[in-house]
Amino acid sequence: MQSRLLGGLTPRTFLRRHWQKRPLFVRGALPQFTGLIGKGALAALAARDDVESRIVVRRGNRWETAHGPFAGIQVKPSNWTLLVSGVNMHVAAVDALLRRFQFIPQARLDDVMVSFATPGGGVGPHVDSYDVFLLQGPGRRRWRVGTRQYLTQPGDLLYLPPGLRHDGVALEPCFTYSVGFRAPRGAELGAAFLDWLHERGLPEAAYRDPRLAPARHPGLLPGEMVEFAFRSLRRISWSRSDVAAFLGEYLTLPKPHVVFRPERARRRLERSMVRLDGKTQLLYSGRRFFMNGETLDVPGRLAPRLAELADRRAASGAALAVAPLAGLICGWQRLGYLHFERP
Ligand code: SIN
Ligand code: CO
Repeated sequence: MQSRLLGGLTPRTFLRRHWQKRPLFVRGALPQFTGLIGKGALAALAARDDVESRIVVRRGNRWETAHGPFAGIQVKPSNWTLLVSGVNMHVAAVDALLRRFQFIPQARLDDVMVSFATPGGGVGPHVDSYDVFLLQGPGRRRWRVGTRQYLTQPGDLLYLPPGLRHDGVALEPCFTYSVGFRAPRGAELGAAFLDWLHERGLPEAAYRDPRLAPARHPGLLPGEMVEFAFRSLRRISWSRSDVAAFLGEYLTLPKPHVVFRPERARRRLERSMVRLDGKTQLLYSGRRFFMNGETLDVPGRLAPRLAELADRRAASGAALAVAPLAGLICGWQRLGYLHFERP
């Protein structure tokens, strides 16, 4: 199906021609888009300590950044920007906007950042290491992307692949919605994987040298000790399935400032629509599921039901109200990972 959001391209064509390759500008991608959050509500989010925010002020050709939380924000009449990350986690309509990009795997989706700028405001020329869709909300902004310029109006969309220098300057008070993606780096995965292996348990045996002879060269690193270290470290091994489990946990682990609010059930599971909380990440690989940083295996015949919840972020409670899924779902509901809604 062709998509207005992608300027008449199908997701497949968009991915082939543009994704990670070249920018795409779509005039009127979301016609009549009037924004999903006002500046008062954005400032209220920026006051919270479980929300990441920053203020960037331009002084000539210099940009000064301060990090939130911010109490009692004073909007400057010009050259000023407030940027709030993860707005999708707190505003359902912004989560729905993020989900319009579901043709890209959730493992790649990061969050929606919303910025509010006064004339002349922006974060300055920069390069991002991630793909981004920049959706223009109320107000106009002039973008310089490489050697090209785009003037974005409400509802226009600009897709930028990683590594492209860009600079967006507000022409009037304006909002920009950045749908951002994540792409882990090898070194970042390596460091996190070593932690994961450590938690799983590493060889515990301690070095012993009952036949130690008097040292002739006390400064010399004993060859037996090197050999012991070599043999211990060689025993650390992992399979492809271990790596998949690590990756699922790593990608679904909530960011450090994210807080879930536990809640009491007011409805019965079997009579509800189950909807994942905006902060929840649920991914799967085969019948192994990853819920907010934890792995669980589900019996094969039930896996498709939970997979539907992961894919659509909502599922009928009746389909999930079977043992042992029901216990799991009710536990997650109490933790605030998901909610029971009227069908
Ligand atoms: C902004 O909303 O001002 C910045 C978005 C970006 O360039 O990544
Ligand atoms: Co950028």
